[in-house]
Amino acid sequence: MTDVTQVNEKISIETQGDIALIIIDNPPVNATGQVVRQGLQDAITKLNDEGTAKVIAIYAEGRTFVAGADITEFGKPPQPPALPDVYNVIEDSEIPVISVMHGTALGGGFELGLATHARIGIKGLRVGLPEILLGLLPGAGGTQRLPRLAGIPFTLDMALSGRQVKAEEALEKGVIDRLVDATPREAALQAAQDVLDGKLATRRTCDVDVEADDKALEDTAAMLKAKQAHLYSPHKIVEAVAASALPRTEGLKIERQAFVDSMQTPQRAGLIHAFFGERAVSGIPEAKGDTREIAKIGVIGGGTMGSGIATSCLLAGIPVRLVEVAQDGLDRGVATITKNLEGAVSRGKMSADQKDTALKMLEPSLGLDVLSDVDLVIEAVFEQMDVKKDIFGKLNTVCKPGAILASNTSYLDVNEIAACTDRPQDVLGLHFFSPAHVMRLLEIVQGAKTAPDVIATGFALAKKLKKVGVLAQVCDGFIGNRILAHYSKTASYLVLDGASPQQVDDALEGFGFAMGPHKVGDLAGLDIGWMTRKRKAATRDPNERYAGDVADKICENGWFGRKAGQGYYIYGQGAPVPNPEVAKIIDDVRAEKGITPRAFSDEEIVERYMTAMIVEATRVVEDGTAKRPVDVDMVFLFGYGFPRFRGGPLHYADTIGAKDLVARITEYAKEDANYWQVPPLLQKMADEGTTFADLNKGA
Ligand code: 3HC
Repeated sequence: MTDVTQVNEKISIETQGDIALIIIDNPPVNATGQVVRQGLQDAITKLNDEGTAKVIAIYAEGRTFVAGADITEFGKPPQPPALPDVYNVIEDSEIPVISVMHGTALGGGFELGLATHARIGIKGLRVGLPEILLGLLPGAGGTQRLPRLAGIPFTLDMALSGRQVKAEEALEKGVIDRLVDATPREAALQAAQDVLDGKLATRRTCDVDVEADDKALEDTAAMLKAKQAHLYSPHKIVEAVAASALPRTEGLKIERQAFVDSMQTPQRAGLIHAFFGERAVSGIPEAKGDTREIAKIGVIGGGTMGSGIATSCLLAGIPVRLVEVAQDGLDRGVATITKNLEGAVSRGKMSADQKDTALKMLEPSLGLDVLSDVDLVIEAVFEQMDVKKDIFGKLNTVCKPGAILASNTSYLDVNEIAACTDRPQDVLGLHFFSPAHVMRLLEIVQGAKTAPDVIATGFALAKKLKKVGVLAQVCDGFIGNRILAHYSKTASYLVLDGASPQQVDDALEGFGFAMGPHKVGDLAGLDIGWMTRKRKAATRDPNERYAGDVADKICENGWFGRKAGQGYYIYGQGAPVPNPEVAKIIDDVRAEKGITPRAFSDEEIVERYMTAMIVEATRVVEDGTAKRPVDVDMVFLFGYGFPRFRGGPLHYADTIGAKDLVARITEYAKEDANYWQVPPLLQKMADEGTTFADLNKGA
C-alpha cells in the first residue's frame, strides 16, 4: 500500500511497505533553501521516530537532483537548520538512507549524496563541488566525506577545480556505488529493495577512515601560494581537506568556520554577482519573445575572426557556408577552422568523429551569390565602412526575405550599414571577441530599426553557441571597446608620466587581470590601435592630451607585438622580457614633451586605471548604450579578462563607493580637467548615497 505524507511544500514522504521515499521538489534546480533543509530534517526524524520503514531512498523531481545550496540566501542572515546539521541527521539515521542522483548533483547537492549510506547515479549524472567558483568551499561536509570515499588527491582536484565529474568517473572513484539507466523513482525503488534483499551494502561515510596524504596537501598548498595567493577560498579548501583526518565533529567544525569566513569576503560577493549576472543579461524582455529559425549560417570572411565565428557555429551543430572573394583566402579560412576544431579535439571538447561531422557541415564558397538560402549572414571583413556598405548592399539583393544580416563590426555605425539595405529591420550587430570560438562574449547590437524578433534571435543564437549575449546600442565601440578606448589612455598616461609598461602590467596583474594592457596590446597586435588612432586623428579633441606618442613610435619601427617578435616586450624562448628600445622611446618622448617622470606606486596605478574604466562605464549606462550596470560587468568578465572575483568594473565600483570615486576624479582633474570629468550619474549617486547594485534592481 502506498502512503503519501507532505512534510512541507517542497518535501514529501511516500511509503511502500518497508520502503520510504523522500522526494524533493523545489524547481528549477532543487536548491537546498530553508524549506528543503527543514523538510529533509523533519522527514528523516519522523521516519526514525516511527521506526516502520526499513530503508529510506531520497530522490528529486524535475530536471536535476539538488544543484546545491540556495545561492539567493547567501549574504543574508542564516536561517536554521544549517545544511551540515541536516546532513549529520541523515548520516546518523538508524534506518539506512540511500540517494539517487540525476542531472547535476552539485555543491550541497553532492554533499547530500555523500551524507547518505549509498549512492546511485542515473546515466548522464555529473557531480561537482563548484563552490570555489563562487568564492566558497564545500560547507556541508564535502571536504570531510569525499576524502573518505575517494581519497585526498581526488577531493582536492574536485574542490579546487569546481569541475563536473561524469558519472563513469565518479563510479570508478567509488563516489557512487552504482550507475543505472532508469528514472530516479524507478532507481530509488529498485535500490531500496536491493538494500532490503542484502544486494546493496550501506555504510556511514564518517565510519570510513581517510587515507593520509600529507604530500598531496603540502604540494597543493605550495602551488596555491605561488599561483593563487590573491584568492581566499582555495587555501581554505586545503585546510579543510587536511582536517578530514580528524573525527567528524572536529573536521566539520573547521570546514564550517572556513565556509563562514569565505562567505564574508568581497571575492564571494563578486563571484556570486558574476553567477547571477551571467544569467541576468539574457533575462531582459528584448531577449525573449518570438525568434526566427536559424538552420544555416553564412559567414563572410575567412580571416581569424570569420573562421572563429564559423568554428563556433559548427561546434554548436549549425551548418555554415563560408564565403571569401578569392580561393587562397578561402583555403586559409578552411585551414584555420580545421585547426580550431582539431584544437577542440585535443582539449577534450569534442571527439575526432564529431570534428569530422562538423567539418562536413562546412561549405566553403566563393562570392556572395551563394548566400541566397541562409537564414543568417555574419559579415566579418575589414573594419572599413565602405567595404561593409558594399557587402550589405549586395546582401540586400542576394539574401532571401527575412534573412538576418549581421555585421561583426567592433565599433562602426550599424545604422549606417543597415541604411544600405531596404530591410534595416533585419540588420543588427553581432560582435564576437577573438578567438571567437573560445571567447564567450557576444555583444548584440541593436540598430535604430532592428526588429524585436531579430534581437531575440541574436540572444537565442548566443545561447546555442554557449555564449553570453549582452544587448548594446549603437555607438563607437559599443559597450566594451568604447570603455576600453577611454581607460587604455590612462595606461599610456601612466607610462608617459613615469611608470614603465612592465610596472603597469605587473600592477594590474596583481589586481587580478590575466595580462596587463601592454601584454594584451602585444598579443592583439599594436598595429590595430595604430590604425584606430590614425582613423580618429581628424576628429580628435584638440584639448585632449594625446596618449599615443609612445605606441606610434613603436609601430613606426614595425614592432607590432608578439607576431613581429617584439613590441613592448621581446618574444623569444621563455618568458617575454621588457623591450629596452621601448624604454629609450619613452625617455625620448618624455624629453620631447618636457615631462619629468615621477614614481607611481602599484596601488596608484590600479586606482587610476580602474577609475578611468569606471568613469566611461558609468557614461555607457548613463546614455543607455548598456541597459544596466550588470551588462557592462558581464561584457568585461566574458570579453576583456576582467578578474571574475571582482565581479566587473561597476560591481567593483560599489566596493569603493560613488562618493570616494567622485573625490578621486576631482583630485585627478587638477592635472587634466579634460580627461578626468565626473559623470553626472556618478555625482548623483554620490549625492544620494546610491549604488550600481541599486540601478541593477531598477531602483
Ligand atoms: N541556488 C539558487 N538558484 C540557482 C542555483 C542555486 N544553487 N542554481 C541555479 N539557480 C537558478 C539560476 O539562477 C536560474 O535562475 P533564473 O532562471 O531565474 O535565471 C535557474 O536556477 C536555472 O539555472 P540555469 O539557467 O543555470 O540552468 P542550467 O540548466 O543551464 O544549469 C545548473 C543548471 C548546472 C545546476 C547551474 O544552474 C549551476 O551550475 N548552478 C549552480 C550550482 C552551484 O554552484 N552549486 C553550489 C552552490 S554553493 C553550495 O552548495 C554550498 C554548500 O557547499 C554548502
